Amino acid sequence: MSIPTTHKALVIQQKGGDPAIETVKTYTPKPDEVLVRIEAAGVNPADWKVRDFGLVVGNYPLVLGLDAAGEVVATGEEVTSLAIGDRVIYSGWLQSLSLGTFQQYGTVPAEFASKIPPSLSFDEAATIPLAISTAGVGLYGPVERGGGTGLTPPWLNEGRKKYSGQPVVVFGGSGSVGKYTIQLAELSGFSPIVTTASPQNFELVKSLGATHVVDRHLPPREIEKAINAIIPGPIKFIYDTVSLSATQNTAYDLLSSGGILVVYLSSKVDEKKTTPDKKIIASHGTGYAVQNKDVCISLYTHLTDLIDSGDIKPNVVEILPKGLSGIPDAMERVKRDEVSGKRLIARPQETS
Ligand SMILES: NC(=O)c1ccc[n+]([C@@H]2O[C@H](COP(=O)([O-])OP(=O)(O)OC[C@H]3O[C@@H](n4cnc5c(N)ncnc54)[C@H](OP(=O)(O)O)[C@@H]3O)[C@@H](O)[C@H]2O)c1
Repeated sequence: MSIPTTHKALVIQQKGGDPAIETVKTYTPKPDEVLVRIEAAGVNPADWKVRDFGLVVGNYPLVLGLDAAGEVVATGEEVTSLAIGDRVIYSGWLQSLSLGTFQQYGTVPAEFASKIPPSLSFDEAATIPLAISTAGVGLYGPVERGGGTGLTPPWLNEGRKKYSGQPVVVFGGSGSVGKYTIQLAELSGFSPIVTTASPQNFELVKSLGATHVVDRHLPPREIEKAINAIIPGPIKFIYDTVSLSATQNTAYDLLSSGGILVVYLSSKVDEKKTTPDKKIIASHGTGYAVQNKDVCISLYTHLTDLIDSGDIKPNVVEILPKGLSGIPDAMERVKRDEVSGKRLIARPQETS
């Protein structure tokens, strides 16, 4: 496949700027990177937040986008794990133009990409990378700032079903991070796996491994009562993949002494009620966060097998019209909380 000298990308020029389609120079991969022709890109809540609130790292202009699936079209000279023609998924980053995924070609360090098994389409595959690394870091990342609960991952033999009989609570089971958290928790052996979702998604989350679902629209006290009725004993592990103030405070109230609450935005637990015996970890679900690099690379190495075996199922997909041009509207839908139980996917090559 010939590589063009330029391609289209969705670029913002400054914090709060409107994303616009621009023509950018196609990148040469660094020695440890591969260049990927991006066939599908997932729209995450982080995209509108980065657009509106600014960057964690990096400079403007910026190519948005944190999820990609596509085909390797060039490799850096140090890369041995991937070859031209491999179908891969990866999570983007915001440090340079080439790492954003809302474009037709992008680069990624080879160690942060996973091959896609033949059974999966690019569209389905693009639902996986950021959400599964976030779920994976939350469960298996180190117990430190930005990490997770430090459990043994189930993709290692010693971790499979290791936590059998221990309860876990996942707030937001029908969200992307929630879905992969439930599936990984099931592989880890947790039981019961209690989650919250809207009633139309109850069957969906049960099909992924949740044993009990509580209506997320109940008042917080009712959610707490319902979960306590399902799990009368101590709850040591809670993952709040919604991470609003209401869900974090309910989650913290449910947590037992010695337990860990993982949140995926900053902590919003009322400081007046926090106690040293109940830990809160605000997790960063990316291998670009230095403390999580090892667990993410371990996950990416085993991800192809986890998908191929059916242990990890992709999210439900809605394809956006007009390639990259469909993304700005999609970001607004995500911002308005109108996307339920699925991931919106753009096909950058269909940009007109
Ligand atoms: N720290 C990190 O590194 C990191 C990484 C990725 C994502 N995040 C953050 O994690 C959050 C989730 O991301 P995502 O990709 O999973 O989002 P998503 O897939 O867009 O989540 C949509 C789902 O959220 C559910 N939801 C909304 N409010 C809820 C509530 N009060 N209780 C239970 N469920 C609720 C909805 O469930 P129903 O339709 O069933 O009502 C919907 O299905 C976002 O805030 C995102 O910014 C952080």
